[in-house]
Amino acid sequence: MDIIHTPDEMQRWSDSVRALGEKIAFVPTMGFLHEGHLALMREGRRRAGALVASIFVNPTQFGPSEDFARYPRDFERDCEMMEEVPVDAVFAPEPSAMYAPDAQTWVEVTEVTRGLCGPFRPGHFRGVTTVVAKLFNIVKPHIAVFGEKDFQQLRAIQRMVADLNFDVEIVPFPIVRESDGLAMSSRNAYLSPQERERALALSLALRAVRDRFEAGACCAEELVQTAKCVLRRTAGVEIEYVEAVDSVTLERVSSIDRPVLVAIAARVGRTRLIDNTVLVP
Ligand code: PAJ
Repeated sequence: MDIIHTPDEMQRWSDSVRALGEKIAFVPTMGFLHEGHLALMREGRRRAGALVASIFVNPTQFGPSEDFARYPRDFERDCEMMEEVPVDAVFAPEPSAMYAPDAQTWVEVTEVTRGLCGPFRPGHFRGVTTVVAKLFNIVKPHIAVFGEKDFQQLRAIQRMVADLNFDVEIVPFPIVRESDGLAMSSRNAYLSPQERERALALSLALRAVRDRFEAGACCAEELVQTAKCVLRRTAGVEIEYVEAVDSVTLERVSSIDRPVLVAIAARVGRTRLIDNTVLVP
């Protein structure tokens, strides 16, 4: 497994792989890997001859009061996990190699980043789309795999790729969960044992929504209230939002008359967690 720290070196690596006629799959991450990340990597492995993953805790997608400094990091352990996939090349730049002090260009997707997490994390999606655009130019992949765990991020990247004619196929991948239903996340490492128990409320709320939907409920407001009810039953879970939105435009809907994303963001202690499910009529 090649470990690459500079954009230049990464571009040369990808150029040489492309010159051999090989297809490159790419999985961008912020590291502190879990089974969800590895499942994305295996999907990339299956779909292309060469597999690149990046480990970069991207400063521009964190707000000033967010967890950039304390975001969990363990590069050695990440490398051991990636060897198992196996990943062919890891791109792990320093922030200074990615952002010049005088940089002044941003990539911003407007409509799909307005709702859901947008208002709670000003500047977040602009940071994500900017770094992913840069990573695409550096890694030059044919395909890139993104998790549906971060559904709004996935839609923002699909919009960016379509709007800016990136020659990259975006492959969505379903949410990978712990055996008790908790969506895997690097941020789960922040949770105390008691908070870990409370965090189950998110997946339980979505389960209740699905059950109600399958029993015939199709009013969006009723389903949102179902989720809120389950969340409120658990002490120590503070709801940021529960919303039912069109799964493509991410605009609010009043009934489940097309594929609808039901998305939750909540705080458990100091930790912000998200989860979602798509209801298809
Ligand atoms: P990170 O949170 O490390 O996630 C990297 C990729 O793994 C994303 O596509 C995310 O949706 C996916 N992922 C995380 N948990 C998952 C789970 N439980 N099941 C399925 N997929 C999961 O998302 C980012 O990093 C960053 O914003 C990034 C795209 C790398 C840009 O900095």
